[in-house]
Amino acid sequence: MSKTIVILGACGQIGTELTLALRSRYGSDSVIASDIREGTPQLMESGPFVTLDATDFNALKELFTKTQVTEVYLMAAMLSATAEKSPARAWDLNMNSLLHVLELGRQGLYSKLFWPSSIAVFGPNTPKQNTPQATVTEPSTVYGISKKAGEGWAAYYHRKYGVDVRSIRYPGLISWKTQPGGGTTDYAVDIFHHALKNGSYECFLRENTALPMMYMSDAIQATLQLMEAPAEDLSVRTSYNLSALSFTPAELAQSIRVHLPDFKISYAPDSRQEIADSWPESIDDSQAQKDWGWKPQYDLKKLTREMLHNLRENS
Ligand code: SER
Repeated sequence: MSKTIVILGACGQIGTELTLALRSRYGSDSVIASDIREGTPQLMESGPFVTLDATDFNALKELFTKTQVTEVYLMAAMLSATAEKSPARAWDLNMNSLLHVLELGRQGLYSKLFWPSSIAVFGPNTPKQNTPQATVTEPSTVYGISKKAGEGWAAYYHRKYGVDVRSIRYPGLISWKTQPGGGTTDYAVDIFHHALKNGSYECFLRENTALPMMYMSDAIQATLQLMEAPAEDLSVRTSYNLSALSFTPAELAQSIRVHLPDFKISYAPDSRQEIADSWPESIDDSQAQKDWGWKPQYDLKKLTREMLHNLRENS
């Protein structure tokens, strides 16, 4: 059967690269991007685009029916720092979009769904090092609460109605094509832009704050791999832990200095520090390795080189 793919939230940090990757794999016409706003010129020019609010059930139903979609990627969400400023709006967007899409899955309008969760499902009482797949999840942020609830709904719709929903707990994602919007791990992208533009950066997290991170192309690779895995191999229907690397702002600055020896960093922690302090420092992803063969390609050295090279070439 030929695939028709719809990406909701296609213009965000992950959505942009995911859409481009899916278009080059399955053909542009089979991959319909949609978002409430327009995206980068590359995204807008590379294939079909539909303006849509992912909290509008009727609009979703119409789009899924009209396109005869087979796979849906629901990437629309409000991230951790922004969600703390508008808790009710964040809950509405993060939860209702998911519940609508799951419900349309129950009605048989598509056959497979990808929905991202996050390291934000963990909280201050979770073991911080090598955080296991199954462990304490007592999130202290609105974003984390919405992701934890979403994981529960995903597993419920799978068990009860057989909806084939698949999920990854992404760590902080580092990319050069699109900026992140309102997350706690955003410093790890901002720092590269400032390093190249000004030679210095004021970081909103303390120098020794270790967080799990990943280069975007690894995250996209993982997503495609999970979506292509045989359903019977998947033992986790809440969301898979996923890990690549873990570093502090000081370690990232040091890695940038290998290329830009005069780069300077200073630290002015703000409210995002508290969020970062509640999250793990490193993640155990052995279940993802075992079930669908996950293996990252980028370490800190390679990621730093790629970020600086691509930002220089494309600015
Ligand atoms: N990068 C996200 C954030 O910081 C975590 O999922 O909110």
